[in-house]
Amino acid sequence: MSSTPRTVIAIDGPAASGKSSTAQWVAERLDFRHVDSGSLYRGITAAMLRTPTAPEAWTGSKLVAQGSRIALRPERTSFSVLIDGESTEEELRGTRVTEHVSMVARMPEVRAWVNQRVREAAAEHDVVVDGRDMGTAVFPDASLKVFLIADPWERARRRLTQRLGRRPLDLEIAEETELLVKRDARDAMQTVQAADAVLLDTTYLTQEEQVERIVALARAVTHRPNIT
Ligand code: C5P
Repeated sequence: MSSTPRTVIAIDGPAASGKSSTAQWVAERLDFRHVDSGSLYRGITAAMLRTPTAPEAWTGSKLVAQGSRIALRPERTSFSVLIDGESTEEELRGTRVTEHVSMVARMPEVRAWVNQRVREAAAEHDVVVDGRDMGTAVFPDASLKVFLIADPWERARRRLTQRLGRRPLDLEIAEETELLVKRDARDAMQTVQAADAVLLDTTYLTQEEQVERIVALARAVTHRPNIT
């Protein structure tokens, strides 16, 4: 398999900064495929949680051994993570996986496994990849690197609005902000902004505006003015 990716757009940033949804929209606009590296960390965590081994006994090699149960199924503009051949979206986003995933993601063997899977996905297609270190550890030569940030309160508000389907109360936002700030701290080591990344603060942007800006940047760097 060729390991030279075609065009890679890397979108990194902290939890709930809107990376995945933005990356998905950008991929649809460009007719690229979206690769969500966080969903692979979540996949390996979920596969391990299905085993009887207690989290205290998890090691890098035990986790990577679960990797053979995980497949990335190409869709038109994305990849689905399957565990034992089944679709897993709800399980991957659940609280048990979210609680354990940062610890799993700190293990170097796991990081190497995820990075390899992401590179394989990018070898065959133009991709928009999102994560924490796509523009540094995995694709230092990406055509475009974007680092998304947003105020924690705003990130919490957006996440809750999506989850609850209504306007969240200030108290709920305060609790969610605390959880997000804690996860930021757990993920701090692996969240790295590339020196040549475009920093995009989305606190005061709508999702459409974020997507628009990244598509415009992509058009400029890939010299494909026909990208709409
Ligand atoms: O982006 P998402 O919240 O789904 O990522 C889940 C977890 O995977 C993060 O909290 C982080 O611990 C880890 N992760 C990472 N490096 C990436 C992507 C995700 O460490 N490139």
